[in-house]
Amino acid sequence: RFTCVIPAGGVGSRLWPLSRANAPKFLLDLTGSGDSLLHATWSRLAPIAPPERVMVVTGNAHRESVAAQLPELLPENLVTESEPKDSSAAIGLAAAILELRDPDAILGSFAADHVIRGQVLFQRAVATAVQAADQGFIATIGIHPSHPATGFGYIACGGARGDLAPFDVYEVTEFVEKPSAEKAGEYLTHGGYLWNAGMFIARASVLLDQMAIAEPEMVRALREIAAAWGTERAAEIRERLWPTLPKIAIDYTVAEPAAQAGKMVCVAAHFDWDDVGDFASVANLLTRGRGSDLAVLGDGAQVLSDASSGIVVSESGRLVALVGVEDVVVVDTEDVLLVTSKSRAQDVKNLVNRMKVSG
Ligand code: GDD
Ligand code: MG
Repeated sequence: RFTCVIPAGGVGSRLWPLSRANAPKFLLDLTGSGDSLLHATWSRLAPIAPPERVMVVTGNAHRESVAAQLPELLPENLVTESEPKDSSAAIGLAAAILELRDPDAILGSFAADHVIRGQVLFQRAVATAVQAADQGFIATIGIHPSHPATGFGYIACGGARGDLAPFDVYEVTEFVEKPSAEKAGEYLTHGGYLWNAGMFIARASVLLDQMAIAEPEMVRALREIAAAWGTERAAEIRERLWPTLPKIAIDYTVAEPAAQAGKMVCVAAHFDWDDVGDFASVANLLTRGRGSDLAVLGDGAQVLSDASSGIVVSESGRLVALVGVEDVVVVDTEDVLLVTSKSRAQDVKNLVNRMKVSG
């Protein structure tokens, strides 16, 4: 009954020049473990669902890289899109395909680009969320916030739902996707808000019916594409309808309205979660629990450091020498050298956007 979906799209522009259109964040190894974020996600789900119950939705352009990284992924479970339309379309298409395979199917969508530590606690949270989904709720998983981040969804938790599970399940009174810094600050001061971990667990039909309230045309198109999936008309129908879909995140089409309608519950997580959104988080992840303040990432990276901290990412193998610089970020690739600081690491995105605008 339970099928996992991994939406894998988006570039991760705050991690440029490491992440590129042809090397998006989910295909990168950001932990130095030799494992890409996508493969780590696959491994995390393996104890929960057998390969025939794990789907990946990705862009046509990444089909081969994804298949190469996930040899166990069944070809019929690798769903590709002709152009990126954000997470509503990606997850919605998987839901529509699943709904046809089994009208009662429960779907768990798990972002492809997070680092999670605490496998047993992760599995326990998902099991609780599946129970809530079985009761008709859209379940999400919440992380205790550590700072007023503006890149996450915020979940306002109401009363405990002890009827669904003995611990850790709350009704959701409000879901706010990526609030302003001011709002995020208020939520932290107020308490009772959790970060959205980017996981949604619901019956496929419940998720689609919820999405259809905000985006009826879109869901009709997704169901039409799904109906033809696996037939010889699949490509033709997808090519015709996919470009008409709005580019919008599922947090707006499903999470915000479902919370408002009282149809969402949240499972509070006890596992370690990091969305490794920028080089400062990569640095913190790599240095945590170790003596050194300088993180080094990359096969064959060569670093000479005197009284310096931060992170060096090297793809070029060129010697990087640092003297007396604190919280520096150096990313040395074959064609681009990026230098910034940990505190400004998230602004790399602005630079990338500027380059896009100026071509
Ligand atoms: N196939 C496909 N196509 N996947 C996509 C697309 C697309 O066009 N766009 C995004 N995705 C995938 C990403 O690869 C990721 O696995 C997931 O959908 C979430 O998309 P992100 O673009 O990474 O979203 P975000 O990080 O800005 O925000 C989301 O995640 C946060 C946690 O990291 C939201 O759900 C927030 O509420 C949440 O806090
Ligand atoms: Mg993300």
